[in-house]
Amino acid sequence: MASKDRAAKSAGFGSKLGFVLAAAGSAVGLGNIWRFPYLAAKYGGGIFLLIYLILAVTFGFSLMITEIAIGRRTGKSVIGAYSSINRHFRPLNLLAAAVPVIITPYYCVIGGWVLKYLCTYAAGQGSTAAGDGAFFTGFIGSAGQPAVFFLVFLLLTAAVVMLGVEKGIERISKFMMPVLVLLTVGIAVYTLTLDGASAGVKYYLLPNFEGFTFAKLLKTAAAAMGQLFYSMSLAMGIMVTYGSYMRKDDSLEQSVRQIEIFDTGIAVLAGLIIVPAVFVFSGGDAAALNAGPGLMFITLPNVFEAMAGGRIIGTAFFLLVALAAMTSSISLMETVVSIIMEKFHVKRLAACVTTLLICLTLGMLSVLGYSVWSGVKVIGMQFLDFFDFISNNIMMPVVALLTCLLIGWVAKPRYVEEEVLVSQKKFSARALLSVMLKFVCPVCMIIILLTPFVTEI
Ligand code: PFF
Repeated sequence: MASKDRAAKSAGFGSKLGFVLAAAGSAVGLGNIWRFPYLAAKYGGGIFLLIYLILAVTFGFSLMITEIAIGRRTGKSVIGAYSSINRHFRPLNLLAAAVPVIITPYYCVIGGWVLKYLCTYAAGQGSTAAGDGAFFTGFIGSAGQPAVFFLVFLLLTAAVVMLGVEKGIERISKFMMPVLVLLTVGIAVYTLTLDGASAGVKYYLLPNFEGFTFAKLLKTAAAAMGQLFYSMSLAMGIMVTYGSYMRKDDSLEQSVRQIEIFDTGIAVLAGLIIVPAVFVFSGGDAAALNAGPGLMFITLPNVFEAMAGGRIIGTAFFLLVALAAMTSSISLMETVVSIIMEKFHVKRLAACVTTLLICLTLGMLSVLGYSVWSGVKVIGMQFLDFFDFISNNIMMPVVALLTCLLIGWVAKPRYVEEEVLVSQKKFSARALLSVMLKFVCPVCMIIILLTPFVTEI
């Protein structure tokens, strides 16, 4: 089969470092900074961390190396990759291609919210964002401003994608990722020196077994699995696309390990920023951490308001979030652009313009869903929540499940192994990959798919 496979695309990453930084940029996003810390705090701190780490090196590793191997071996984006392995899997091409089309627009809408906060802090007006949340609800409830910030974020993303893989994505990742790491470490060091921060660190890192039952353990594992998926940019076509741009002589196994270390490291550090800070300024009230989505846009501004140097830390923090969101939105948009280029045989510019138009239309639905059309609901949800729900809770687990069936049972794990061995002598995780793809990952996917319904009941 290998002889029939195409080599990696002519347009691609120029170096292994470029590939790893771009893929890590995709993985490190809003999920790490906003979602991970509050999930960890909610699900028993250290226990969540431990389960997450175990899942990252087993389940996450297997799915990520599989997706990158599929991309590199077929040289295609998701719209052609799966069916070129087995023609019966053509529907999977379409399903996987639909995921980034749904996610990119609303991700850019949230990116716009982050830009608004960054501008507010940089202009020295961070105090206006503090309070009971009126600033946030007032902002997203006014159609004009969120639309403008969404547009700016979208155009910035598109500008990078338009420049291409090596000149745009690789170059910007090599600049943005080191800045992102420096900001994360710098802010974490600062918040850890705050008086009383150690109680927050203990709450975040030490396992809390109080009232911990088997049912709770299952719930924690399901939450960790869902987060892993989200965080590692799996089942949304990104890793297949980036894999198709990867050089044939760079080690797949080593690259995946490095991406994982990056992604998990930034998530854990983000928790070290947020949990102790919120803990200190809420007077040790753990409930403040359960603010969910409001944590970043409502709780944190209050924390910065009360903090010495809050203006600088607030600006640095929202710059960090904006960079993380931008490198992720770039990867999402590149995935859509590569699908359009491949499917319709058009040039990058035409594909970018088409993608922009799709994003504008779907993104405006999310923007207006909080303002003029707040009365309109899709299965009881606002547009943005609906897009998030069908992509993350339904389509992505199904894509991952079908990928496991395709590679675990139809093409066999050998398919991945052969691609790994193109660039290294030995594949140490061979047995792990096989067990994961055949048995563990499919069961995990079914658990993720069923959890929302079971918890409803
Ligand atoms: N992995 C990125 C993050 O953690 O934010 C990107 C991403 C995840 C985008 C999930 C969209 C999504 F639904």
